[in-house]
Amino acid sequence: MICLGIETSCDDTSLALVDDGRLIGQATATQVDLHALFGGVVPEMASREHARFVGPLCDKLFADTGMEASDIDVVAAARGPGLLGSLLVGVAYAKAFALGCGARFIGVNHLHAHIFAAGLETDVVFPALGLLVSGGHTHLCRLNGPRDVEVLGKTLDDAAGEAFDKAGKMLGLPYPAGRLIDELANEGRADASLFPRPYLNNDNLDFSFSGLKTAMQTFLASRPGLKTGWDAATGELATPDSDLQAELADVCASYRLAVVETLTIKTRNALLKPQMKDIKSLVLAGGVAANSLLRETMRKLASDLGLAFTAPSPALCTDNGAMVAYLGWLLASLGYEHDLDVEAIPRGRRVPDDMRRAVFEGSHRP
Ligand code: KG4
Ligand code: ZN
Repeated sequence: MICLGIETSCDDTSLALVDDGRLIGQATATQVDLHALFGGVVPEMASREHARFVGPLCDKLFADTGMEASDIDVVAAARGPGLLGSLLVGVAYAKAFALGCGARFIGVNHLHAHIFAAGLETDVVFPALGLLVSGGHTHLCRLNGPRDVEVLGKTLDDAAGEAFDKAGKMLGLPYPAGRLIDELANEGRADASLFPRPYLNNDNLDFSFSGLKTAMQTFLASRPGLKTGWDAATGELATPDSDLQAELADVCASYRLAVVETLTIKTRNALLKPQMKDIKSLVLAGGVAANSLLRETMRKLASDLGLAFTAPSPALCTDNGAMVAYLGWLLASLGYEHDLDVEAIPRGRRVPDDMRRAVFEGSHRP
């Protein structure tokens, strides 16, 4: 069974084909340089760019893979949560494509697509505890299977990725700053006392990262010279001062450690809850799952507790069409689909579980 997956929930337009659980091609256009000019994603511009790219990328994907529209059994689109205008582009395109070639249609939950992406590379062992950390979300979930995701806790304000991006902005680094902070941190030495580990003095599984951003702001008020800026032409820090560069690397290392330790402590708390006794694996997912220290620390946590550990390779952590195609394929293989009147769901609203069992006709049988 071949599934075309379409991801347009934020600032990446990405289409991919998955054949029986295996990725056979992907075409992506990122808008990161455009939004970097504004220090964050501008929703109206994002949807216009998706509308500009989705058709040509689809043509490229089919040309690169040698597939025909008539080969497609299922078309999946990320239906939310995300930027509504952006989601509507991908969802409308997917519905039209499905209608045009007689394929089934599934609107997949973008967060679930992140969580199950690891299945493209390795078998995920259920029940699992999932930590989803992206630019918009920080969720701890119990994963009983592809249709059964129970949210145990989430951020009350900023997401982990936002904590990196907002700190990066204060340091004069380009948006999104998570990867750059990670790279700079690898060159620095962390001071564990520089930043707090917020919102740990409770026994719930929610997070709050907004205080960390304020802590960076307070710290930078005492070290204004540290906002060195970034030279887009050379792709390097704007300052030639090596002492400043070293100090910036140390600050990035300290900040990264604070985010990673906060995530790790809450994840450990979740795994030690009596109702989590049957958990067999830990799954790390989302853009921040590309963070080198977080991957290493979570792998160690899983191993200390005798659990399997899964995280997608870094390219599959940030938004991509492959994860949408994979979850679409997985759900379609289990016999699910959507009617074409399914809605896109904006950020902040719960994505309803409104799939129906497919009625198979003609050749589109799994
Ligand atoms: O999942 P994603 O591509 O988009 C959302 O659905 O939000 O995640 C993007 C987020 C951004 O906040 C970015 O700064 C962060 O992932 N990110 C990282 C790293 N790579 C990307 N954060 C920390 N370390 C990284 N290596
Ligand atoms: Zn995402």
